[in-house]
Amino acid sequence: TIFIQERDYLTFLSFSLSTSKCSRRGVLVFLMMLGILCLLYFVSPPHWGTEFHQTYEDAGPYYVAYPQNYRFILDHPQKCKQHNPLLVVIVPVAPQHTEARHAIRKTWGNDSLVQHGTVVVLFLLGLPSGNNSKTLQLRIHQENLQHQDLLQIDFIDSYRNLTIKTMVMLEWLKERCPQTLFAAKVDDDILLNIRGLMMMLLSPSVPLSNYITGLVWYGNVVIRDPSNKFYIPHNVYPNSVYPPYPLGMCYIMSMDLPEKILQVSKEIKPIFIEDAYIGLCLERLNIAPTNPPNLDQFVVNPPRVYNRCYYAKRIAVMTNSPNQLISYWTDIHQPGPAC
Ligand SMILES: *[C@@H]1O[C@H](CO)[C@@H](O)[C@H](O)[C@H]1NC(C)=O
Ligand SMILES: *[C@@H]1O[C@H](CO)[C@@H](O)[C@H](O)[C@H]1NC(C)=O
Ligand SMILES: *[C@@H]1O[C@H](CO)[C@@H](O)[C@H](O)[C@H]1NC(C)=O
Repeated sequence: TIFIQERDYLTFLSFSLSTSKCSRRGVLVFLMMLGILCLLYFVSPPHWGTEFHQTYEDAGPYYVAYPQNYRFILDHPQKCKQHNPLLVVIVPVAPQHTEARHAIRKTWGNDSLVQHGTVVVLFLLGLPSGNNSKTLQLRIHQENLQHQDLLQIDFIDSYRNLTIKTMVMLEWLKERCPQTLFAAKVDDDILLNIRGLMMMLLSPSVPLSNYITGLVWYGNVVIRDPSNKFYIPHNVYPNSVYPPYPLGMCYIMSMDLPEKILQVSKEIKPIFIEDAYIGLCLERLNIAPTNPPNLDQFVVNPPRVYNRCYYAKRIAVMTNSPNQLISYWTDIHQPGPAC
């Protein structure tokens, strides 16, 4: 619009100049018109052009489009009702990470606890983007037909949209699994020990409400360096440290929390760092995340050399690749004592 405005103004200018022909009256009229234009300019500041720019700057690239009415394209609304599991594990995964999903289905996602419905494992994805998105979407539909384990939401799946994914996951859990005791969010590169996790959760020391556990980070400093991947500007989050939160690689919560977190999230501006955002909600709820009873069962940086005995005792360990996940899991499950 600014372009058109400028052109109109120029037309008007040349028109005034040509009609005035240097007569004094003409000059006077011209100056008056100019004055009126200036007056209009200040009385009603120009929206053209700047309006979009300003909204964009306020929201910035740090704007997280949540809440919004996202829709499930693929859903399994009866999954929890059918199986009545004690634990539901949701694995947020990028649409193109087909191999990671296969690796999990072949390994911990096919534990007998999963086969018998005590634990339900589902993958959560957004929409694919980029050149091959149509083909990929077709494959995703086929994959879901075959395995019946994909939940897909209608927003573009991207790193910056992970908080949306987590919040929609909480909405799904609240709606679909009210009878379940626990929900876990597990990244797609995690080697998970389903049995170890169930044993931990069913110990009497673990409360059934207001409970969230994982590797808890305390006093994590907010990054103010714009070149850093985790940069958060002041106007998005003003404090210098985040409240404690369980690391996103694997956290587990009692089933009363999805609804509580969703409720307070309405008052808290979302940031794209999904686990830190859970921390902000927990702080508002006055709920402190708890470290697991045995802290060294959750591992971000495992020893460089594989050791069967070490892995057999862990609950959640980060891996480098789907192949590594499969080979470690296969070895742990060889017959014979692990240690
Ligand atoms: C899961 O395990 C069962 C045997 O326990 C096997 O028959 C089945 O093929 C496995 N599924 C996958 C996807 O590996
Ligand atoms: C998508 O296709 C265009 C044109 O064919 C190409 O220039 C671009 O690099 C491709 N992008 C990706 C991410 O592959
Ligand atoms: C996040 O999802 C929204 C809704 O689909 C989309 O408009 C936006 O571009 C996505 N953001 C990123 C960074 O991909």
